[in-house]
Amino acid sequence: MNLPSRQKLLLHPVAKPVVFLLCLLPFAWLLYAAIANELGANPAEALIRATGDWTLRFICIVLAVTPLRVITSTPALARFRRMLGLFAYFYVLIHLLSYSWFDMGFDVADIIKDIIKRPFILVGFSAFLLLTPLAATSFNAAIKAMRARRWQLLHKLVYPIAALGLLHFFWMRAGKNNFAEVFVYAAIIAALLGWRLQQFLKKKKPNPSMYAG
Ligand code: HEM
Repeated sequence: MNLPSRQKLLLHPVAKPVVFLLCLLPFAWLLYAAIANELGANPAEALIRATGDWTLRFICIVLAVTPLRVITSTPALARFRRMLGLFAYFYVLIHLLSYSWFDMGFDVADIIKDIIKRPFILVGFSAFLLLTPLAATSFNAAIKAMRARRWQLLHKLVYPIAALGLLHFFWMRAGKNNFAEVFVYAAIIAALLGWRLQQFLKKKKPNPSMYAG
């Protein structure tokens, strides 16, 4: 597909509602599976794990928007980033809610004790805390009030969030000695952050023509 038709497709008025519905599909499937009793032998565990997976996937998708936009020269991709970021928050909220409800019976004192006691939960919770100001400032009024530069700086928090999410996943799987999927996510996140580092270094490199003459 050439650039004008790609741009046209992404700028079409139905493009955003379509992406929105696509992002809701995992939730719809989980809801259906929970109601139809199709979450397997341990539904609570299946729900916590699936929502954790989707949080990490949405973080990866958000991180992929800028490289894809630049590499394919498709500026219209940027209009989906905010929605994708809010979906990462949506899935982490369900993840936290499922854990608080099914694992901890909504006992706040127990939840706090567990977060402090189990390092992998503490790391996940830290990622959640860092994600909260990003979700809270995803609206035009907030961007305007904060000014673009400060807003952009705050939204760089997505890098430590990705690293903490990955560490949380690694730590959880370390107990089971099962790292295959963790390595796949690690490779994706390393590639996406590596691309940014490369762009940053390219920008910093002095242009030799500047010193000519
Ligand atoms: C950005 C934040 C977070 C991300 C990216 C994330 C991601 C994940 C992932 C990928 C898994 C493993 C799923 C699997 O095995 O397929 C997981 C499991 C889990 N997470 Fe999170 N998580 C986050 C925040 C949290 C928070 C805030 C809590 C609770 C306070 C939490 C509690 C758990 C628990 C209890 C499990 C399941 C452990 C088990 O089944 O043994 N996570 N998470």
